[in-house]
Amino acid sequence: MPQTFEKTFFLETFGCQMNVHDSEKVIGTLIAQGYRQVENVEEAGLVLFNTCSIRDKAEQKVFHRLNDFKKLKKQGKRFGVLGCVAQQEGEKIFERAPYVSLVAGSASYRNLPQMLVQLEAGNSRVTGLDDRQTDETFETEFTARSNPHRGYITIIEGCDKFCSYCIVPYTRGKERSRSSDSVLSEAHRMAEAGYTEIQLLGQNVNSYLDPSGRKSFAQLLAAVGEAPGIHRVRFTTSHPRDFTRDIVEAIDSLPTLCDHVHLPVQSGSSKTLRAMMRLYTREEYLERIRWIKEARRPISITTDIIVGFPGETNSDFEETITLLDEVGYDGVFAFKYSPRPHTPALSMIDSIGDEEKSKRLAIVLERQREIQRTSYCRHVGSIIEVMVEGKNEARGQWIGRTSQNKTLNFTAAAEKSPQIGSYHPIRVTASFPNSLVGEIVA
Ligand code: SAH
Ligand code: SF4
Ligand code: F3S
Repeated sequence: MPQTFEKTFFLETFGCQMNVHDSEKVIGTLIAQGYRQVENVEEAGLVLFNTCSIRDKAEQKVFHRLNDFKKLKKQGKRFGVLGCVAQQEGEKIFERAPYVSLVAGSASYRNLPQMLVQLEAGNSRVTGLDDRQTDETFETEFTARSNPHRGYITIIEGCDKFCSYCIVPYTRGKERSRSSDSVLSEAHRMAEAGYTEIQLLGQNVNSYLDPSGRKSFAQLLAAVGEAPGIHRVRFTTSHPRDFTRDIVEAIDSLPTLCDHVHLPVQSGSSKTLRAMMRLYTREEYLERIRWIKEARRPISITTDIIVGFPGETNSDFEETITLLDEVGYDGVFAFKYSPRPHTPALSMIDSIGDEEKSKRLAIVLERQREIQRTSYCRHVGSIIEVMVEGKNEARGQWIGRTSQNKTLNFTAAAEKSPQIGSYHPIRVTASFPNSLVGEIVA
């Protein structure tokens, strides 16, 4: 007789928004299979980790967590590893952590119901690892979205870019887009259910290629923005190579499309960009920035930077700093280069020591802080609409998000307490490098 386990599950998510949204779909699928979600590991029959392996640290975190809970296996619990570490390490996870009995990458979640049946039958090595070459996307009617106002829709899965440092094409498989009809019907269903903000997701969301041939990315974006009831549409992440001018034109002509583009540059040096296999030069990147800045609406721009890529000289790094100044980003996510398995950059000598990487990272963050200190100031005195996200009770402030994706904390008289998810105009009274402060406009 196989040892049975309770149909309760705990799921912890690491990594990017794609993973967060995958988890919402996994949760919905489990619930549809008769499972109940619980808030802590102790109560769960099945413990799942949806993992990230973008940098070594992220990967190590997962194995630490698994180790912490190892002893719980004796209580009859099952453990499952999902996501990017699962796909990257595959069956090796069973060797490293023998108490794990499910290992599945994101390209196989369509088959989760069958995997659960195997698990319930007592199979202690259930895998979903073979589907990276699939053309199928993971579409489910059971998505359990965690926020009732704002929700994600994945429009494109996988990645075909193969930047030389990046593990994603190996963990998420080949690029495949959902049909525009399917995306739009999900957007309409969400609007009917009361969602007012939709965020379209993809590793390279603007590389979207409608399998039905009906809509370009910009057209799909506009169509989602025109869904009745939808007040805000965001999209992330855009790859500079596939960033076309019609995206800016769509934002310019449709107020529901948010004033924000996240356009990861990675480096300001064309030489480093070539070694990274990013498929654009500094000049080509700056041309896209020009399109965005020429828009009639003030479109906020944010980016990702990698410091200490193999061979990055002081002068290459200096070019990243001058790029920060030239673009004047509203936000930067900066990372130290981390060598990843399978990637071409792994065979280049990781020539820059950790201390130097840390130094460069600190310089980027410090420079960027100064840029934002100045640029956030510009909002003081203006009135900006926010979506209310929550309340900071300790400070007595409400937390709002602007169309430009900036945090705007504000006060409101007790009798005028706004509802979470509602929209309000706020007068900006002060600014910090990472947030704005204001008061609700009566
Ligand atoms: N598809 C997106 C990014 C996805 S990963 C794009 O192409 O822009 C998110 C960010 O993680 C990347 O933009 C990059 O800055 C960072 N990253 C990816 N691989 C990394 C690595 N090996 N070391 C350090 N940072 C990395
Ligand atoms: Fe990774 Fe490059 Fe694909 Fe982005 S585009 S996910 S950085 S390989
Ligand atoms: Fe991490 Fe995978 Fe996302 S590696 S960043 S969870 S695509």
